[in-house]
Amino acid sequence: MNEQQRKDMSQIRQVNPEEATSDKNNLNRLKEKSSEDFMKYFETTYQPPNMRDAQRRKKKETDVHYDFTIPEDMDQSGKGKKYMIRTYGCQMNEHDTEVMAGIFEEMGYESTSDTKEADIILLNTCAIRENAENKVFGEIGHLKPLKMENPNLIIGVCGCMSQEESVVNRILKKHPFIDLIFGTHNIHRLPQLVKEAMFGKEMVIDVWSKEGDIIENLPRSRKGKIKAWVNIMYGCDKFCTYCIVPYTRGKERSRLPADIIQEVRHLAAQGYKEVTLLGQNVNAYGKDLDLEYGLGDLMDELRSIDIPRVRFTTSHPRDFDDRLIEVLSKGGNMLDHIHLPVQSGNTDVLKIMGRKYSREEYLELVKRIRKSMPDATLTTDIIVGFPNETEEQFQDTLSLVEEVGFEAAYTFIYSPRENTPAAKMKDNVSMEEKKDRLQRLNKLVNEQSAEAMKQYEGEIVHVLVEGESKNNEEVLAGYTKRNKLVNFRAPRSSIGQIVPVKITKAKTWSLDGEMVEASVEVK
Ligand code: 5AD
Ligand code: SF4
Repeated sequence: MNEQQRKDMSQIRQVNPEEATSDKNNLNRLKEKSSEDFMKYFETTYQPPNMRDAQRRKKKETDVHYDFTIPEDMDQSGKGKKYMIRTYGCQMNEHDTEVMAGIFEEMGYESTSDTKEADIILLNTCAIRENAENKVFGEIGHLKPLKMENPNLIIGVCGCMSQEESVVNRILKKHPFIDLIFGTHNIHRLPQLVKEAMFGKEMVIDVWSKEGDIIENLPRSRKGKIKAWVNIMYGCDKFCTYCIVPYTRGKERSRLPADIIQEVRHLAAQGYKEVTLLGQNVNAYGKDLDLEYGLGDLMDELRSIDIPRVRFTTSHPRDFDDRLIEVLSKGGNMLDHIHLPVQSGNTDVLKIMGRKYSREEYLELVKRIRKSMPDATLTTDIIVGFPNETEEQFQDTLSLVEEVGFEAAYTFIYSPRENTPAAKMKDNVSMEEKKDRLQRLNKLVNEQSAEAMKQYEGEIVHVLVEGESKNNEEVLAGYTKRNKLVNFRAPRSSIGQIVPVKITKAKTWSLDGEMVEASVEVK
């Protein structure tokens, strides 16, 4: 670790001494001491710095509600009207949009993708990186003329950006034509909020930092009939130093196993072929429930449900345990694909990121997974250009990518997020250098992906057929159990089924093929 990074570490500690509660006295004493003392302190007693609200997080605060209804005065209030929701960001947001769509439809609204037709437009926003936020502010600007033309149009901003004070202030000051801002914990109040926005004169702002509740019986208007998302938990308590999610999504809280299992059973009965269990850190599932029940136990129960494919996203290496590996290796509807974000291949950088594992521990976990699941595809997330990342530290990331043999990776340039500990670090890496590192990393990942794809030429794989391919409507597309995208010719009747496809050509990110038997279902 270089001098600047040592300094950063000590700054992490000084971000919120007030919030470090029991560590406070230690910390004040350590402030006078050397970097080595900080390092020692960090390794032995460090607790991640929490923001004010986060500090109040306690277990067992979660209330579960089963009593959601549309208030009588808003029931069918959307008859003859249309809603449009534009979604940014991750699958959690996509799924929140399905919930909001479900609420709108219960109120009598119909959906539209045409802004000119809409009576209400919501932007479901993402805050993970600065460019995600810029896109939303750009879109807000585009919507202004529509509002000028039609003052009855309601425009709302929801999702992760709404949970940021600075964003709410910016909208108040610069975009006062926005009617409604609400946060990630307030979705179930949509009917009331729409009513207030319709009849009130002021901008309606409903953003809670309290996030203890789980509302179970919200309606959902799912986007497809083949694949479905199922929340298993909300929030994140990991507080990686670069990440805004623990602040925008609140504390970790798990749904009860019975509620999840019932939802998956229901989806199976409706004919869905794949469910993806969603959480910011699914490996922490159950830790807040006092049930001695984790993701491995949940997956084991889901194995016996008659649904061909069960996935989960996203994992944190720290909580990925042997029980889960054991269950995944049983096969059946468990898939041969694990997305395991590593973020960096250098132990010092991982430490400053607050990831709570070393390079060696990550590699050890990969070894255990490979031993039990030799066929599994591993994919990952990586951040380059974290403050003061050296060339050598970046080289460690490249060598880890090679050593693990990732077959795909989401790669990002570090983006400072307001009020996170990393955003306060001085950064001596230029944007030019960061872009160059990203390019070098992407080149390696592409090569590895292409190499993995090559091995499929001539093989028969089983593909869950999702529909037309993106670029050619005469070609169908779907994914294998190892998460490889396959484009192939087959009768349209195979959509929604799992069919055998012979691979004729490998590309960098996808495979081309031909279905080998007409409409045979293989599970
Ligand atoms: N800058 C860049 N990438 C980030 N991610 C999270 N926060 C940041 C940030 N501040 C990436 C991580 C995470 C993925 C969802 O987004 O790699 O795994
Ligand atoms: Fe963000 Fe994931 Fe870390 Fe949670 S575990 S703080 S969501 S990067």
